[in-house]
Amino acid sequence: MTRRESILREMGLAPLWRLRDSPTGDSPSPPAPLPLAGEGSVEAGAAGEVRLERTRRIAAMGWDELKTSVAECRDCRLCEKRKQAVLGVGELEADWLFVGEGPGADEDERGEPFVGQAGQLLDAMLAAIDLKRGNKVYIGNAVKCRPPGNRTPEAEETAACFPYLQRQIELIRPKLIVALGKPAAETLLGTEVKVGASRGRLFDYRGIPLVVTYHPAYLLRSLTEKAKAWEDLCFARRTMQGLNDVAR
Ligand code: URA
Ligand code: SF4
Repeated sequence: MTRRESILREMGLAPLWRLRDSPTGDSPSPPAPLPLAGEGSVEAGAAGEVRLERTRRIAAMGWDELKTSVAECRDCRLCEKRKQAVLGVGELEADWLFVGEGPGADEDERGEPFVGQAGQLLDAMLAAIDLKRGNKVYIGNAVKCRPPGNRTPEAEETAACFPYLQRQIELIRPKLIVALGKPAAETLLGTEVKVGASRGRLFDYRGIPLVVTYHPAYLLRSLTEKAKAWEDLCFARRTMQGLNDVAR
C-alpha cells in the first residue's frame, strides 16, 4: 500500500478501485484506465481508422489548438443547432475539475459553462467548500455543444466528444474530478453509473480520484437532494485534503 493509499484509508476513504479485486465484489467495478477513445476497439475498416486518427490528433493538442478545434468541430450532430461550442472555464492547471453534462441555452449563448440557473447553484456549491470558479477550479462538460432542448446527450455524442475531455484532463492534471450527474460520470468512467449508489465512493479516472454527485440542475428540481450533494462535496473536500496531506 502506498503512503497515499494508507492515509486515504485511515480517513475512511479506501479507494474504490481497490475493491474491484476484493473477494466480496460488492462494488461496481470501475473500468481499468481507459484507452484513448477508439483505441483498442474492434472497429475495423476505414471509419475506425479515421476515428483513431482523430483521437490521436486531439491527444496531441495544446490548449490553443483544442480551443480552435472544438470551436470548429462538426464531429457529431450536436454541431447543427449550437450557437457556439463551449470548451470550459477555469485555471488551466487546476486542482479541481468539475464535469457537467453539456451547455444549456445560456451557456450556448455566452460560451461559458454553467452560467445559467444551474450554474448559480454550482457557484454556491463551490463557495460552500471555499472554492471559486477559476481559482484552482476548472469547469467543463461531457459534450461541448448544446443538445437541442437540453435533452440528455446520447452515447454516440458523448463518445464523439470524449477525446476533447480526455485531452483537457491531461492538460489540467487535476488532483480530483467531480462528476456532476450521470452522463458526466458514465462518460468519464466508461460504464453505467447510478448516481445514488455511487455517492461517497472514490472512483478512478486514469489514476485520478473521481467522485460522483448529483447534477445541479437536478438539485434545482429536487431540493431534498441538496443535503446529499452537500455531503458529497464535504466528501470531495476531505478527499482533497487527504491528497494534499500526502503530497506534503
Ligand atoms: N448544465 C451542464 O451540465 N453544463 C452546463 O454548462 C450548464 C448546465
Ligand atoms: Fe464536436 Fe463535441 Fe460539439 Fe459534437 S459535441 S460537434 S464532438 S465539439
